Amino acid sequence: MRYSQEDYTRAVEVIRSRTTLTPKIGIVLGSGLGPLADAVESAVAVPYADIPGFPLSTVQGHAGRLVIGHLVGQPVLVQQGRTHFYEGYDMEQVTFAIRLMRELGVETVILTNAAGGINTNFDVGDIMLIVDHINFVGMAGHNPLIGPNDERIGPRFVGMAQAYDRQWAALARRVAKEQNITLREGVYAGLAGPFFETPAEIRMLRTCGADAVGMSTVHETLVARHGGMRVLAFSSITNMGIDKLDTDQEANHLEVLEAGKAIVPRMTALLRGVLAEMAHA
Ligand code: HPA
Repeated sequence: MRYSQEDYTRAVEVIRSRTTLTPKIGIVLGSGLGPLADAVESAVAVPYADIPGFPLSTVQGHAGRLVIGHLVGQPVLVQQGRTHFYEGYDMEQVTFAIRLMRELGVETVILTNAAGGINTNFDVGDIMLIVDHINFVGMAGHNPLIGPNDERIGPRFVGMAQAYDRQWAALARRVAKEQNITLREGVYAGLAGPFFETPAEIRMLRTCGADAVGMSTVHETLVARHGGMRVLAFSSITNMGIDKLDTDQEANHLEVLEAGKAIVPRMTALLRGVLAEMAHA
């Protein structure tokens, strides 16, 4: 799918017809984290189905709407339910919301996701600050920047050495400490899914320097950085990657959703703290 500037403009018009608020912070909610959107005040919800061009989420645990309003005084746009590459959408479609955020005036994107833990020091229920990523799918040629570049949005060749904003990362560490929330940090490996990894793949990812693995986020970060937006990102560690053959364990989506649910109160507290601090940064 090649979107034109007119496609984004049409989507922007629909949203602007529902609210006059200009969101400055975009928040993407990962698997099981949907309830965070309930905290948005004087919220206007726009279902994806009402937005031309918007791909519809087909996965259980992902609602499909943008929620625009205030969170701790900050004008936000919350993407409640993301679409994934494994659903059959292409990379441009799965990052449509991120480009749309930019068109609406968003300056910082906060990405959340559910991820499998690879770092053996992690536990299920941990929150990990993403400090860097490995975009396996993107490196293999599936990424939303493939194709003609629109210089009005960003440069042809995007530097990704500072993909995750260091100032926002420092702020998140500070807030976590103040709130007594254990904040892990590490490298997120982005794969296509929808399968969970084999033990050999988990060990390979560990050798590659990854601390967590998931099926989203990296292409969103790419589009955000291309468009000049700042990125702060967190993984909820919903399961540990299985790295041995001598076990009957299997990862499954239900445990991902359940663990995600358990993390919601802590993730909410962390995000609220971060948003409050961002206002003075
Ligand atoms: N692997 C990939 N993606 C995931 C996982 C996992 O173990 N858990 C949640 N998302």
